[in-house]
Amino acid sequence: MDIILDEITNETLAELEKTQKDFWNIPRKTGVLMNMFIKMMNAKSALEIGTSNGYSGLWLAKALKETNGRLTTIEYYDKRQSIAIENFKKCGVFDIVRPLQGSACDIIENFEDNEKFDFVFIDANKREYVKYFELIKPHLTQKAMIVADNITSHAEKVQTFIDAIDSDDEFQYEIIEVPGGILVAYRN
Ligand SMILES: C[S@@+](CC[C@H](N)C(=O)[O-])C[C@H]1O[C@@H](n2cnc3c(N)ncnc32)[C@H](O)[C@@H]1O
Repeated sequence: MDIILDEITNETLAELEKTQKDFWNIPRKTGVLMNMFIKMMNAKSALEIGTSNGYSGLWLAKALKETNGRLTTIEYYDKRQSIAIENFKKCGVFDIVRPLQGSACDIIENFEDNEKFDFVFIDANKREYVKYFELIKPHLTQKAMIVADNITSHAEKVQTFIDAIDSDDEFQYEIIEVPGGILVAYRN
């Protein structure tokens, strides 16, 4: 059984799936999984690194609407960010989304110390995953979850990230064989 979303969101997601390759969107399965994770852990504050046109952000934001949470999402290119904002507005989630435009590392480095996230989705520059991981660590809540995309499709580029999380005693993780491969990590 598919999850129940409102008609306009279902239509928007289906429309965006037609241009999935142009915008490097996650597969639907990853969207459904993250939507469930957020609801299961009752996440309140999520960070997405790599907005593109907002496809994955819609899956995250729809779950966060149910948990009374908020999504911060970072994108380098203003044109993609503008498309994402339109999609968030169309699907009624823009009120809980904070879109930030610029280089992910610069933005995260400038977060206030008290900025905390309990769910982080990493899907931007593959070679920078390890940097994102190091930079977000001080901004994670105690029981935070991290999901990172393209773990098997870009295995060589993300290896330093896997090594970093593997050698960090605070995290347990597993790689899930959805298309592209995701790493799911939990700090406990
Ligand atoms: C794989 S796409 C994201 C797809 C999106 N998560 C989805 O599934 O709908 C990666 C996005 O990250 C952006 N990006 C790449 N490097 C970045 C960086 N250093 N800072 C911010 N955004 C970046 C790209 O412009 C691109 O839109």
